Amino acid sequence: MALETPAKTELVRDLLGRPLASLRVSVIDRCDLRCQYCMPEEHYTWLPSKDILNAAELERVVDAFCQIGVRSVRLTGGEPLLRADLLELVTRLTRLPLVEDLALTTNARRLARQAEPLREAGLRRITVSLDSLQPVRFEELTRRAAHAKVLEGIRAAAATGFDAIKINSVVMRGFNDDELVDLLEFGREIGAEVRFIEYMDVGGATHWSLGEVVSQQEMLAKLEAHYGPIERETGRGSAPAERFRLRDGTRFGIVASVTEPFCGACDRSRLTADGLWYTCLYAQQGTDLKPLLRNGADRERLVRRISAGWAGRTDRSAEERRDDPHRGVLYQVSELQADPHREMHTRGG
Ligand code: GTP
Ligand code: 5AD
Ligand code: SF4
Repeated sequence: MALETPAKTELVRDLLGRPLASLRVSVIDRCDLRCQYCMPEEHYTWLPSKDILNAAELERVVDAFCQIGVRSVRLTGGEPLLRADLLELVTRLTRLPLVEDLALTTNARRLARQAEPLREAGLRRITVSLDSLQPVRFEELTRRAAHAKVLEGIRAAAATGFDAIKINSVVMRGFNDDELVDLLEFGREIGAEVRFIEYMDVGGATHWSLGEVVSQQEMLAKLEAHYGPIERETGRGSAPAERFRLRDGTRFGIVASVTEPFCGACDRSRLTADGLWYTCLYAQQGTDLKPLLRNGADRERLVRRISAGWAGRTDRSAEERRDDPHRGVLYQVSELQADPHREMHTRGG
């Protein structure tokens, strides 16, 4: 029997009543930077290349997710621009009729060359990670001398005519918390919306401590000291970022996943490059969809497996962690080595 048409799509809700609307696909676990909040170690265990899903397999699985509600798809990594068939993947995904919003999150190191081809392949939105405008600091944070390339990549993207460019900046106390105004001004200059992100205790952040988290409240106080009163916008829905407006109309966002988690409205799940599906950023266990994909399962079987997984979902880990008085790093290095799927760069930043 042919599966449902878009109009008849069955929306599944989890045990807390949350629909599934957004999928983050980590298309590659490798990265060409080593950000301290994500990849602070010297050595990593990489996913075996034979396990990485090809573009056709990723298209099939994204299509199945769409049948039960996904409309927004984010391609992330690792660094997605390191994936050789990224253009083919973007072309395939932009052709899926139910994908309404496809965006790519990149560190922009290789964006100068790839911005134009990506736009031509149908990509409409780009989000760039940029935590410092100071070259020395940038290099200290990412452990790679790539600042000039990254800025070149961002400017190239801004000149390419994407519908929107966003800049994500993870804020760490004593490191870049004096750059909030500079980053906002840079965003304004190139026409990008900046989102400040609280430093999270995700897998991979083995040097995390609560003391280094700059809360949303603190960020707003710093920005108000410079810009005057800031207005909070309404209508956030399920987006991780709360949006704000300066007096002159400039908009920016804050992702306060440590101090004000948004699990109650969380409609997203994550897929790793080798087909492990996670229903929460912090989930211990994932569902391996690769056997189904590689053993010829049709769309209906994939949909049934995903529906059943989502229907049993109870995750609200960021809220549980907020309420834990002994909160510390999520995993020790040995636990990350034992299962690299616990890493943020594998699970999808
Ligand atoms: P846009 O529609 O492009 O704004 O997508 P988005 O809101 O999903 O934003 P983006 O993909 O850039 O995510 C912003 C940041 O929010 C990520 O880089 C993460 O740091 C954080 N984030 C995203 N998803 C989750 C999540 O499920 N849980 C938590 N705690 N943080 C998340
Ligand atoms: N805290 C907050 N955000 C993180 N990211 C990765 N690690 C962390 C962390 N510890 C997110 C950032 C980065 C994206 C790729 O992943 O938003 O820009
Ligand atoms: Fe930095 Fe992103 Fe690479 Fe992690 S995956 S090291 S956050 S650029």
